[in-house]
Amino acid sequence: MKKNVAIYPGSFDPPTNGHLDLIERGSHVFDELIVAILRNPGKEALFTLGERRKMLKTLTAKWSNVRVDTFDGLLVEYARKQKADAVLRGIRAISDYEYELQMALMNRKLDPKLETVFMMPAETYSYLSSRLVKEIVTLGGSVRGLVPTLVEQQLRERVQANPHALDRPEDTEGMNGEPRTKHGNHRRDGVQEASRALGTASHRKGKS
Ligand code: PNS
Repeated sequence: MKKNVAIYPGSFDPPTNGHLDLIERGSHVFDELIVAILRNPGKEALFTLGERRKMLKTLTAKWSNVRVDTFDGLLVEYARKQKADAVLRGIRAISDYEYELQMALMNRKLDPKLETVFMMPAETYSYLSSRLVKEIVTLGGSVRGLVPTLVEQQLRERVQANPHALDRPEDTEGMNGEPRTKHGNHRRDGVQEASRALGTASHRKGKS
């Protein structure tokens, strides 16, 4: 019998308990779940691809049907190579919906056979994002309970070694002249760029 394979793509910079909650849920629904970390040279990351891969491998080792991989280029192409049936994405709140819908429909346009499946993480994690986790750690706050201990330790080490690891050019302007603050508005992936170029309001702030 054919196995149901799903891909859970993302930046995972860093992996949070919300990501792990979704991975666990996905592992119960699909025969095989591939956690696929995007190699994105255009987006600054706190952790290297190798570091994120290592963390996720350790954190998902308890689920025998979960595999960790990296990819670049189009998600639909990667999914085709992996013979995947579905893409798994998490929706935490209604604010995620517009961006996720746009991405799902665009992926469907590119490959009509590839389904996107949305799952909701536990409501405890509905306000949790990698971006906020990084910001809190940089500003000296606690992220206990929001990320696995392994990630918490590595975050602290990274920020201690380089307190300016998350700094960005101050008050430079975005493409449309909007102010760009130190930590905000740094989502620069293809969908956001496209929606900016098209003048739509669909670029979502700070999902990851
Ligand atoms: O964790 P993120 O940053 O929200 O994940 C976004 C991700 C990796 C799912 C998205 O940027 C992606 O799929 N990128 C691959 C390039 C691609 O296929 N772009 C077209 C998407 S419609």
